[in-house]
Amino acid sequence: NTGKLWGGRFAGGPSPELDALSRSTHFDWRLTPYDLAGSRAHANALHRAGLLTDADHAALLRGLEALGERYSAGTLLPDPFDEDVHGALERLLVEEVGADVGGRLRAGRSRNDQIATLFKVFLRDHAAVVAAQVLDLVDALTAQARDHLDVTMPGRTHLQHAQPVLLAHHLLAHAWALLRDVDRLKDWDARVAADSPYGSGALAGSSLGLDPEGVAAELGFTGSTANSIDGTASRDFVAEFAYVAAQIGIDVSRIAEEVILWSTKEFGFVTLHDSWSTGSSIMPQKKNPDIAELARGKAGRLVGNLSGLLATLKALPLAYNRDLQEDKEPVFDSVDTLEVLLPAFTGMVATLTFDGARMAELAPQGFSLATDIAEWLVREGVPFRIAHEVAGACVRRCEELGIELDQLSDEQFAEISPALTPGVREVLTVEGSVGSRDGRGGTAPVRVREQLAELTAVVDGH
Ligand code: ARG
Repeated sequence: NTGKLWGGRFAGGPSPELDALSRSTHFDWRLTPYDLAGSRAHANALHRAGLLTDADHAALLRGLEALGERYSAGTLLPDPFDEDVHGALERLLVEEVGADVGGRLRAGRSRNDQIATLFKVFLRDHAAVVAAQVLDLVDALTAQARDHLDVTMPGRTHLQHAQPVLLAHHLLAHAWALLRDVDRLKDWDARVAADSPYGSGALAGSSLGLDPEGVAAELGFTGSTANSIDGTASRDFVAEFAYVAAQIGIDVSRIAEEVILWSTKEFGFVTLHDSWSTGSSIMPQKKNPDIAELARGKAGRLVGNLSGLLATLKALPLAYNRDLQEDKEPVFDSVDTLEVLLPAFTGMVATLTFDGARMAELAPQGFSLATDIAEWLVREGVPFRIAHEVAGACVRRCEELGIELDQLSDEQFAEISPALTPGVREVLTVEGSVGSRDGRGGTAPVRVREQLAELTAVVDGH
């Protein structure tokens, strides 16, 4: 049939079973605009090398453009017998401009350098989309932090009350993690941009005097690959993208888990907006954090895509092997998963209502000011080992009496240690505790305001 890119050395056509196994158009068709852009750049390189007449070159460009228009209109479709996007587009180009002209384009290139190149361009485009979406989530977290600069809450370690913190400080912790993911996407992009594989051919490079640097520049790369085997055989750029996608999923899932906990009756820290939560088909009262749960679930899926891909790449000999076709579906899935998840998640975060009074009420409970007593003693000249013991004794006494630390009388403090003069009360409020943690990176309001400005500057730099 006319859709095959090979066949000269075969007596008969492939079996239908082989065709069914080999076919990839059902997932790689979305690469069409990228393949066409690569073909345009390649046609230009052939023309520059003197391998295409002006007329043939112009005809090819017109044909490629026509295919692009049909694709945008949704009318360009592969046939069932097309093996992959590359073969289908060559068939369609030949139908468009005739076999003599259309048949010249494949000179000096292989699907191996083609796919490696256009998958890079595709992922670079989506890395930019995902980075912008992550920045939107950072904005939503930052806005919530800015709106709640005076709200205190129980900071936790081991999920137990640890020390009071500002809600804004907690929210910004998530924002910083997400900003590192945006950095990772940018680092990744710079590495990928330097390495256009076009010109590598199947594995050994081209004898046709083509101009890989020119093709690279035309496709938005900053350089072309130094090694044609590496150019066609390596997929670490795919694995690295899948890792960053998984890391974003994991960072989002950590926020998700907190939203799920915080929206329970027991916590009562947040209420979800009606438009960003779901109901139950049987229990009329339910309001469920489905977006957060889907985020938590999809993080697992993103990790799965990464591990599947690494398993495909492990021990694969150089250069191209057909196994590499398996690199697409998992990463397409990671891209699609994030691009649908992030906007919903951002909407949920942006519309959360926090119960500041509830959070503040719980902030000092569970003896979360014990560290403040110990550090106050240190400032009074007591060695920390002793201060820790004394503060621990205060907690024990409170547990016996069923009271909180600030309810101990002056006499009870003095009984525990003469160093515990009434001055200790200045740190036995949540505001005193939070305000005292004013070293860089601390939760003191003055520091958190600075942090907000610092983070906003980083966001603005992206
Ligand atoms: N569709 C293949 C892929 O996604 C590219 C084709 C390479 N095929 C080949 N027989 N060398 O990797």
